Amino acid sequence: TKRVFSGIQPTGDLHLGNYIGAMKQFLPLQEQADCFFCIVDLHALTVPRDPEELREKTLELATLYLATGLDPDKITLFIQSQVPGHAEAAWLLQCVARMGELNRMTQFKDKSQGSDSVTAGLFTYPVLQAADILLYQTDVVPVGEDQKQHLELTRDLAERFNRQYGEVFRIPEHQIPKTGARIMGLDNPEKKMSKSAPSEANYITLLEDEKSILKKFKRAVTDSENEIRFDPENKPGVSNLLAIYSEMSGQSVESLVEQYQGKGYGHLKLDTAEAVINRLKPIQERYRELRESGEVEAVLRRGAERAREVSEATLAEMKKAMGLVQF
Ligand code: TYM
Repeated sequence: TKRVFSGIQPTGDLHLGNYIGAMKQFLPLQEQADCFFCIVDLHALTVPRDPEELREKTLELATLYLATGLDPDKITLFIQSQVPGHAEAAWLLQCVARMGELNRMTQFKDKSQGSDSVTAGLFTYPVLQAADILLYQTDVVPVGEDQKQHLELTRDLAERFNRQYGEVFRIPEHQIPKTGARIMGLDNPEKKMSKSAPSEANYITLLEDEKSILKKFKRAVTDSENEIRFDPENKPGVSNLLAIYSEMSGQSVESLVEQYQGKGYGHLKLDTAEAVINRLKPIQERYRELRESGEVEAVLRRGAERAREVSEATLAEMKKAMGLVQF
């Protein structure tokens, strides 16, 4: 069976981009592969966080993973900081990574721009991500398009390590969805939907209530024409609505475009909102049940145990290959 690994940061609320780009892909994979899903709290520390909030969001994210339908008997769900191998392997890989290649990471450039207090952790962030993936001898990494560059770096580091020290790592592939790879902001369809967007009108969170979802879709930015067609370059707003609608309803973009010929944007907006509400409703119900049940902690404990077992085997091989003495 194939090994799958993916991670999500416990920062802010999870939004439709996270769901469509990443989490929705996880569901079918749990039936076919050995899946490790991680709450990457160490990555969250690369920018200053309120400790209480980080704790809260970490448990919220764990609960959300399960609420989307992931079955703890089929997958391994765990918190990154509870598996010490991640930070350790990240150090070893930092001694393989080069300043130049990290300097080229667009996420680092975006996040560090205009800030005079950029942490060293933000710079080495992609190396920790590579450690996450490589420790599990991962075959497939399901992610949204914005992670593509980090995945390429991961492959480069794995190949360089294997060349320099001998074959230790399997080389992973990314899996990026066809339509929902890059969900755009509702208030600005030129930029991706993001937890750190300045306005709440940018995103729909997975726990958002009906009224608010409806309001945000009604106000979603489109364009001054009235033709409904899928053309992300010239019609980013309308195309984003079609992508969201398609992904949340299971209907193809083509069939939606056909259905909406001659109808106005207002219709499309309302129906997209409804598709989102219908899809999120059972997730929100399950989320509340799980929160009350108190079973999430036990799942995370078991998950961390299994993750430690698997990651320690790879870490030992890395150390051996690099010449570190182990008794
Ligand atoms: P993060 O927490 O920013 O996002 C989690 C997942 O959501 C996807 N995503 C999107 N997909 C489509 N449209 C969007 N607007 C959108 N916004 C976010 C992301 O591509 C991602 O799949 N560095 C990673 C976390 C990470 C990781 C890993 C991922 C750490 N280690 C190992 C995979 C494997 C991140 O910050 O994702």
